Amino acid sequence: MPVVRLVGAGFVAVLCSAIPSALTKPCRAAEPAASAADASAAHRGYQLVRTKPYLPAEFPAAAVEGSWRMWPADLKAKAQRATLEQRRKMLLARYGLVPAPEDPDGMPMAFIPDARGDWSLTCLSCHGGKVAGRPIPGLGNSHFAFQTMTHEVIRTWLAASGKPQAWQINRLTSPLGLSNGTTDAQVFSIQLTALRDDDMNVVHNAKMPPYEHHDLDAPPLWNVRKKKRLYIDGFAEKTPRTIMQFVLYPNNNSDTVKGWESDFRDILAWIESLEPPKYPGTIDRQLAARGEPIFRTTCAECHGTYGPGGAYPEKTVNIEEVGTDSLRLTGMPPEHRRRFGAGWFGEGGKRTAVEKPEGYVAPPLDGIWASAPYFHNGSVPTLWHIFHPDKRPTVWLRTEDGYDHARVGLEVTEFADLPASATDGAERRRYFDTRIAGKSAAGHDFPDALDEDQKRAVIEYMKTL
Ligand code: HEC
Ligand code: HEC
Repeated sequence: MPVVRLVGAGFVAVLCSAIPSALTKPCRAAEPAASAADASAAHRGYQLVRTKPYLPAEFPAAAVEGSWRMWPADLKAKAQRATLEQRRKMLLARYGLVPAPEDPDGMPMAFIPDARGDWSLTCLSCHGGKVAGRPIPGLGNSHFAFQTMTHEVIRTWLAASGKPQAWQINRLTSPLGLSNGTTDAQVFSIQLTALRDDDMNVVHNAKMPPYEHHDLDAPPLWNVRKKKRLYIDGFAEKTPRTIMQFVLYPNNNSDTVKGWESDFRDILAWIESLEPPKYPGTIDRQLAARGEPIFRTTCAECHGTYGPGGAYPEKTVNIEEVGTDSLRLTGMPPEHRRRFGAGWFGEGGKRTAVEKPEGYVAPPLDGIWASAPYFHNGSVPTLWHIFHPDKRPTVWLRTEDGYDHARVGLEVTEFADLPASATDGAERRRYFDTRIAGKSAAGHDFPDALDEDQKRAVIEYMKTL
């Protein structure tokens, strides 16, 4: 790769590097996981997601650090005047990067430095989030500005180096996420799987199955232990192989990918060890106690029961009945589902992959206070809006770390339309616009069966889950 020449590379000093030098400090989390011989599988799994790069480092450190030069004029002027530490904060905020709880001043959870210090994307880019400013590995990252970051970093790199590479053109032209906090994650799974034969060998000039672009909200991983099947349509069985789709970059050959299966056994053990965070605000216990039986009658049939003796039915609800956005069902081609089941992921057909799912699986609601925005597409900002389908905003904009304790969920400003200031793509992506394909906030009218007083009680009860 050509050398990137950029002024201001000292910025990395405030981040961290795998090879510490006079300019950089070591990343605290970057200790080899293998040295902790006595560590449990779950502990090893977390070390792996935090320290082992499975993907090529597509984000050169110098281009990340210099990307502020691509920012809108006012922000750029501010960044130019800022200290390195202030600029680091601006960068994290613009790209929705969340600090790691065990190393708040180091690399954000979304990335791991490779041997040269360049940035490699991790599972926690989408699965390491924050709520009310508190970082939580395993919570969906509802801030991640994947498309804005990728575009600005590539453009910074090109400005310094000139000739674009094929994969860079691909990243610049295919949508990665049309609202910050949600990503076009399925496209990775579909395109990367299509590039492999049934034994995981890379196939060149593979034919891509048809796919309709749409964005998804990464679900909280602490619910995975309750599930036998993964994803909102429950199409794949929960196995270490299933959660490896993201590492199928063609740079990783068949033997490498297969050799990582034991890593992913540990990563799955980590995922299954996760506990939902407890609601940190006050709970009106009497009101919550009134809400519980109402929840049991109106919601538990699909979402299960909680507390001692609780049971989760893992129920698929027909799309006509749930009525939420259907693009996730129709957008993923049946041939992808079929190949997934028949090939290496499905262990040659031993595992079942659902080819024609009828609807969405009602998720467990543990820790639901923390995992806003809601629904598989992240279209609904608070629980109150879940309970008031006709009051859901057409367009909404969240604050960085605000939490709405009254409505339980994101602190948002609501709009009937995009404001006139949202002219370019990066600015538009700061807003969630429910009129974009795949982003509808309609459906799930089940709470309409309740009156206002009952709704208040059930929302209060849901803070206890
Ligand atoms: C670009 C964002 C992104 C990255 C990177 C990513 N995921 Fe996900 N992940 C998602 C989204 C979105 C979903 C929900 C997909 C769906 O339901 O169709 C998901 C679903 C999952 C689920 C299923 C959860 C459930 O409740 O059904 C698991 C487990 C998971 N991811 C693990 C991983 C692991 C392990 C990695 C790293 C190898 C990873 N993910 C990388 C976005 C991402
Ligand atoms: C007939 C089954 C069914 C009933 C009854 C039902 N739900 Fe749901 N619920 C679903 C399904 C399916 C989804 C997933 C929809 C989606 O993501 O598109 C869902 C999603 C949700 C979500 C969003 C979860 C998340 O992680 O984003 C919440 C909150 C919720 N339901 C609360 C309730 C409450 C409260 C009740 C009772 C008043 C209720 N539901 C009744 C099937 C049901």
